[in-house]
Amino acid sequence: MLDRRRFLKATGAGAAAIWCPQSLLAQQGANELRIPPLVTGNRRGGRRHYELVAQSGESQFFPDRSTPTIGFNGSYLGPTLRLRDGDDVSIDVENRLDEPTTVHWHGLHVPASADGGPHQIIEPGRRWSAEFTVMQKAGPFWYHSHLIDKTGEQVYRGLAGMLLVEDEESRSLELPSEYGVDDIPVVFQDRRFNEDGSFRYVSSRHDIMMGMHGDTILVNGTLDPYFVPTTRKVRFRLLNGSNARTYNIAFSDNRQFTQLSCDGSFLGQPLQVTVLTLAPAERCEIVVDFSDGAPVNMLSVPMAVDSPYRTRHMMGHRGPVYENDSFHIMAIRPQSQLQPSPELPPVLTSLVDYEAVGIDRVRRFDLTMAMGMGMMGRGGRSGRGGQGNEELFFINGRSMHMVGINVRVPMGSTEIWEITNNSRMMHPFHVHHGQFQVKDRNGRPPPPHERAFKDTVKIGPGETVRFVMEFLHFSDPDLPYMYHCHILEHEDHGMMGQFIVE
Ligand code: C2O
Ligand code: CU
Ligand code: CU
Repeated sequence: MLDRRRFLKATGAGAAAIWCPQSLLAQQGANELRIPPLVTGNRRGGRRHYELVAQSGESQFFPDRSTPTIGFNGSYLGPTLRLRDGDDVSIDVENRLDEPTTVHWHGLHVPASADGGPHQIIEPGRRWSAEFTVMQKAGPFWYHSHLIDKTGEQVYRGLAGMLLVEDEESRSLELPSEYGVDDIPVVFQDRRFNEDGSFRYVSSRHDIMMGMHGDTILVNGTLDPYFVPTTRKVRFRLLNGSNARTYNIAFSDNRQFTQLSCDGSFLGQPLQVTVLTLAPAERCEIVVDFSDGAPVNMLSVPMAVDSPYRTRHMMGHRGPVYENDSFHIMAIRPQSQLQPSPELPPVLTSLVDYEAVGIDRVRRFDLTMAMGMGMMGRGGRSGRGGQGNEELFFINGRSMHMVGINVRVPMGSTEIWEITNNSRMMHPFHVHHGQFQVKDRNGRPPPPHERAFKDTVKIGPGETVRFVMEFLHFSDPDLPYMYHCHILEHEDHGMMGQFIVE
């Protein structure tokens, strides 16, 4: 699979005028994978209480230079929060940065006031507390900055973390579940660096149009990581925490592995796969069997030539490695004696069918972008709230504005949202407020790996995807939820809208 010619060619393509200390392809597994601390909260009255502090610091990704970064309760990324379905929780966020921020619970079904979107700004020096009851099926979720016009930059610098929800079902299943031992969070992100070690964020229009792609992979904030399994089977909670890059996860020996979940719930049954495509913000849980003791690498392999998720470069561009190439994510070197692991259960969950309750209406959303490097967006910046990024991306012909509600959903309804991509690249479409079920993709039933509750769905160029979503429990006449492309530079340049559940 790792054909030598392609390897060399891709290495060459990665050589740009920037500092590229670890080519995407040259990784060896030099540093032990960092495992973010697990935070399970403290009981306080009837609530389980969590604390996050957004702060700035320096990160030592490299032995010989440091990188200014931001994070939660540390200098880069944040702890893994573990929440239980049914718990009343409060999560306090203190902003010790010298800039405003917000913290959004991606994928969670919470009231709009607790959602942490662009309207729940936390000014420097201030605190914000999100209180809600966890109403969620088990799975990996995440939290991240959602500041208007600045989400891409703040997430890139480190404001994100993983959030694991457990429910009765997940606790009763015999699955690897010892955090940090056989239950491992894997947050992968691509980054670009300047020679002094600092992050290099958007530096061209191309970075905005294609979304910010880096040439160096960090996993849980570890450069060139290795992981040592001590058990026969390991459950990895994969989160694509990248701003724009889509990964095609596989192993260097092409081994089979088992997919357990996707985004917001388990699949009905474990699914055997050899490759798995994750767009920005998508998550999935996999179980990998290391019984043979053989070292292996986790990779991203090229998209099939006819894949709708393959990157079409903008005219004339030669840049860092894209989805079309192979690169390493993590080296895995099993210990010589491995502890036994449970057999995977044949059934994981039963998924209720949202559609069974009847569809109240269908809404259509059309995704477009300004074409070509030379062409300007519509530029009108007033009313965007933040810095007012140029408007380059549109949903139903409009860019995001902080004032102005795009959609009003009557509380209690079940809707089909039909998303059409009329641009030349894939957009991972995400909706706040909860989980949906993909109904069809270009008129055909979704593939088995998408048959679960999801909150982010890939929409390739020319594709139409329909999903079913229920709008229950929370209404708020003033505060909107967001729907948007999760390529963060697209979101920050207009590909976002607001809806109210009333
Ligand atoms: Cu992951 Cu609107 O966000
Ligand atoms: Cu979200
Ligand atoms: Cu997009």
